[in-house]
Amino acid sequence: MRMYDIIKKKKEGGKLSREEIEFFVNGYTNGLIPDEQISALLMAICFRSMDMEETAMLTQAITSSGEVTDLSPIEGIKVDKHSSGGVGDKTTLIVAPLVAACGVKVAKMSGRGLGHTGGTIDKLESIPHFRTSLSPAEFFDAVKKAGLAVAGQTGDLAPADKKLYALRDVTATVDCLPLIASSIMGKKLASGADAIVLDVKVGNGSFNKTTEDGLALADAMVEIGTRASKKMIAVISDMSRPLGRQIGNALEVKEAVSLLRAEEADPALKELCLTLAASMLFLAEKGNEEECRMLAENALLSGEGYLALRRMVEAQGGDVRALDDPLLLPSAEGYDVLSPAEGYITDMNTERYGTAALMLGAGRNCKEDKIDAAAGITVYKKTGDYVKRGEAIARLYASDTARFEDSEKTLLNALSFGTTKPNLPPIIHRVIKGGAL
Ligand code: URA
Repeated sequence: MRMYDIIKKKKEGGKLSREEIEFFVNGYTNGLIPDEQISALLMAICFRSMDMEETAMLTQAITSSGEVTDLSPIEGIKVDKHSSGGVGDKTTLIVAPLVAACGVKVAKMSGRGLGHTGGTIDKLESIPHFRTSLSPAEFFDAVKKAGLAVAGQTGDLAPADKKLYALRDVTATVDCLPLIASSIMGKKLASGADAIVLDVKVGNGSFNKTTEDGLALADAMVEIGTRASKKMIAVISDMSRPLGRQIGNALEVKEAVSLLRAEEADPALKELCLTLAASMLFLAEKGNEEECRMLAENALLSGEGYLALRRMVEAQGGDVRALDDPLLLPSAEGYDVLSPAEGYITDMNTERYGTAALMLGAGRNCKEDKIDAAAGITVYKKTGDYVKRGEAIARLYASDTARFEDSEKTLLNALSFGTTKPNLPPIIHRVIKGGAL
């Protein structure tokens, strides 16, 4: 079998066989096929797509490229959660502690930033000394001690996805249904949970620009999970505006802490977190839907969720003082972006906001780039808000202040102004349940 022929077949719109899919996934994982050939194939898949059977086979190949985690030493139903990627998406930092505070163990593997979107592992690494790279024994130990752990993908878990994910990030091959579905589900099936809640984003800040794209992705992933006997829920949530007010790693940790401490909460962020937490509790059989929602709300109000986050940070070696006093988290010089016009913000291109944050140092342009944990954007004004000319609409942060200029241009290019207040979409578009639920 030749990689050249596989690329050509897909370029011409052909359907790949199981053997061909396994050949390229295993060959790339083992270093036998170079980046340039896989990049070409990924681009061909972006243009020609894959049908459900190919997507399911790609998922299986990704899952079996490494070890499947056995979570049976942890008691009870294990529920995982995964986001399809967004801007300002710090939900895991809030949802995992809320669920753990309700007595459900959370053993979660998370990813790094991808394209214009942020990643939970990069966010957690902004907490001084927090360790995201844990051996399996350390991971189980942390779950036992704290009730939850969030760690980076170990080398053994879906290593094919680890390599493909990093390559897609820098070759503009992220926003493609079969690649996203197989990447997410390949990892989720390898991480051994009994039940999975998916947060599928739709809107201009996500990889699914339309609600139809998001629904198709959600359906595909729910189908793959159900076929693998997992209990599945997909929440289709809005990403046509940044989620919450902060974009960037340390900034998002601060926002998550502030919500968990019931100090300040963006309503959309809070609603989405409560919906996701309640869905996880429902799959963990903690009660009916209303009871689970109440449990999640109580964990937030009582401060138990915050205590769970503290326990997790402590168990993973992080400095909990940086949670109690977020001034101890990395910080950088700020620069206000002023509105060039007066009127309602009628639209914001959220992907460009993500790119503007990346340009400040909050994400990577190439695989080797180092993240600036303090870099990012505080969003003062969003779609639907009225602004005066010269009023601050956002504040940029970067350790390298030379980055402000280009980032500001990108951000201003993302905005449209008008005289009529636009209608805003709800934060939750739909909830899809798998098979037997
Ligand atoms: N999250 C993933 O894990 N993979 C993708 O492809 C997109 C979002």
